[in-house]
Amino acid sequence: MPHKVTLIPGDGIGSEITAAVVRIIEASGVEIEWESFIAGAEALTRFGDPLPEPVLESIRHNKVALKGPLTTPVGSGFASVNVRLRKTLDLYANLRPVRNLPGLVTPFGDIDLVVVRENTEDLYSGLEHVVVPGVVESLKIITEKASTRIARFAFEYARREGRKKVTAVHKANIMKLSDGLFLDCFRKVAAEYPEIQADDKIIDNACMQLVMKPQQFDVLLLENLYGDIVSDLVAGLVGGLGICPGANIGELGSVFEAVHGSAPDIAGKNIANPTALLQSGVMMLRHLGEREAADLIARATIYTLSEKKVRTRDLGGTAHTTEYTEAIVASMKELSS
Ligand code: NAI
Repeated sequence: MPHKVTLIPGDGIGSEITAAVVRIIEASGVEIEWESFIAGAEALTRFGDPLPEPVLESIRHNKVALKGPLTTPVGSGFASVNVRLRKTLDLYANLRPVRNLPGLVTPFGDIDLVVVRENTEDLYSGLEHVVVPGVVESLKIITEKASTRIARFAFEYARREGRKKVTAVHKANIMKLSDGLFLDCFRKVAAEYPEIQADDKIIDNACMQLVMKPQQFDVLLLENLYGDIVSDLVAGLVGGLGICPGANIGELGSVFEAVHGSAPDIAGKNIANPTALLQSGVMMLRHLGEREAADLIARATIYTLSEKKVRTRDLGGTAHTTEYTEAIVASMKELSS
């Protein structure tokens, strides 16, 4: 029986990188029936809603989705479809593993850490209003329930994956109530996992330490906004947004997507790096129990980058998206023959 997976190609470079990932997954031999949907600005024009109900229904039904990036208008226009999707389906945990790819040399040495970001509240609750002209209030919502749930997710993940330490990153010295609550929940949950080291850092210091001495970190636990920003920072430690995968996980389903956005500056040029979404696809295959195919794609990606030295421009190469994709497919054949 083929797996049924919801596919949202997305905006900007989305269609180019999802085509690449679908091609590579198909070449791995895993049978997937993709249910493809439009979301974002085009869906708003065509169906009057940037996140039409059938998309949500499909994910609820299939419980697994692969999603390309969706553009969010800056300053005005519709609210983020990404945020709405995560909130509507209660995909409360955003998991972003950040690792060096062998063969890609960076100034920061070997990095192997995981960002766990709370995905449903904080300043992303979208509660903003004008108090009086010239004064705007933006509400930061932090609850005991969501903070405890994400802390437990981080520790359960650490236990399952043999990770040694979870570091909560916060600004509880200034936001004593909101970040203070997040930190309290973290400490309470940490006490249930005595075998895993638990510590915390104030976010400004954490950012500096991440650049100076990233190896001290293992699992990072952050609220929504800090998690969003710090994920891009750590992506920069291993070669950029082109290679960092992610997953949005909840009880109702999981949506796999890259950390990066729709990259309008390079869209339509066949130069985007599909590796981040491909690695998200590898996470998805593991989630579906397709471990062999996941391992093959992961090995072929490393082989293509490090042995064959076929790389897209963001990694210093010259390969187009489609050439790089075909090089990975060829590597898969080579490695499995
Ligand atoms: P971005 O992540 O799209 O791009 C930042 C920089 O990284 C750009 O120079 C871009 O060319 C480069 N880049 C990103 N992905 C790349 C790839 N796969 N290969 C090579 N280079 C890559 O961030 P930006 O420009 O701030 O956001 C653009 C749009 O994407 C915005 O509308 C934003 O709201 C949206 N966005 C959507 C996300 C999602 O769907 N989950 C996540 C982040 C941003």
